[in-house]
Amino acid sequence: MAELDLDVVQGELDAPEHTVRWLAALEPAADVDGPELPDDEAERLLDRLEVPREDQADLLAARPDPQADKAYWWILDRLHRSFLPTIGKPVTTDGFQAWQPLTTNAADAKARQLYLWAYLALLPAVRRYHAERGVPDEVSWATLSLAFAIRMHKDLTGHNGLGLSHQWGPPIRLRGVFYKLGRLDFNRAELSFSNGPGGFALSVHIPPDGPLDKAAVEESIAAAREFFPRHYPDEPVTFFTCDSWLLDPQLADYLPAESNILEFQRRFTLTPQPHRDENGNGAILRFVFGRQGSGENVLDTLPQETTLHRAVVAHLRAGRQWYERTGWFPFEEAP
Ligand SMILES: CC(C)(COP(=O)(O)OP(=O)(O)OC[C@H]1O[C@@H](n2cnc3c(N)ncnc32)[C@H](O)[C@@H]1OP(=O)(O)O)[C@@H](O)C(=O)NCCC(=O)NCCS
Repeated sequence: MAELDLDVVQGELDAPEHTVRWLAALEPAADVDGPELPDDEAERLLDRLEVPREDQADLLAARPDPQADKAYWWILDRLHRSFLPTIGKPVTTDGFQAWQPLTTNAADAKARQLYLWAYLALLPAVRRYHAERGVPDEVSWATLSLAFAIRMHKDLTGHNGLGLSHQWGPPIRLRGVFYKLGRLDFNRAELSFSNGPGGFALSVHIPPDGPLDKAAVEESIAAAREFFPRHYPDEPVTFFTCDSWLLDPQLADYLPAESNILEFQRRFTLTPQPHRDENGNGAILRFVFGRQGSGENVLDTLPQETTLHRAVVAHLRAGRQWYERTGWFPFEEAP
């Protein structure tokens, strides 16, 4: 694939500057094939991935062409060849690099939809990897679903596709480290301490699929305790961990003790709050209201229907902050 001038890529897509820097820093492997896009099969795959039917025509019409859409294809090819060699490798506990917003121009359907084409091109590799690990087909497809990512993108930007906002979920699902097991999702993370490798942990994620019912959470944790030793006997897990606004203990000032969120919090031991307090206002506004930004005027526009809606706003109006906190509990069930 010929190298392109970064200014050309940026200009053609209206890409944010940090995105272009990120794309330039990717390291595409020279010894793997470039992306191949599905033809007749595309619609069937989109159904399997739970891409809403009403979005599919726009997506199919925005198929990039290697000759006519050189800048788009250059991005697709770079993403593809840098991503392929990472499939199956656990991430580190301190994070996983999201795919960056590709464009600021919502009218550019090709840029809005490009991540979905990248997803389709990488899909066969992760499906093969799941099969090699003996992952049941229904777990594989449930894990690879794009329904949540597309819904979240629509809530945040008002548009279909994935290219107008950061994408963390789709690439981590494709990486083969992330599994949906009932109510909760889990990703494999490798711990590393200064004196050498420290084993494996499972990061817990909570998708917005209805209430965080206690019994469903318990079932999901039990499923993870069974699934990971079976499919990854070479990566014994030490503990579950979670980074989330849901673990902010300040929520107990507002929610009743029997609420699902506080019930969930009680499973975890919190790590000490970092000195440089990370501000979690953005996360809580995103997950509770589907909004970006946390200025005063935003507060005036937020619904006040639930106890949590009212708590989030009252807390911010009082000049206080929300925090994303980290918690953990042992992988083995207590005897
Ligand atoms: C996590 C989640 C499922 C918890 O919902 P839940 O089971 O209803 O939680 P609780 O029982 O603790 O709810 C207590 C109160 O807060 C409200 N509440 C909880 N989550 C809410 C949300 N995301 N938006 C609005 N209100 C919410 C409930 O309606 C209830 O108020 P009410 O008694 O006035 O109706 C829900 O917050 C959610 O879907 N969040 C989005 C996903 C997310 O944030 N994941 C973590 C990413 S790091």
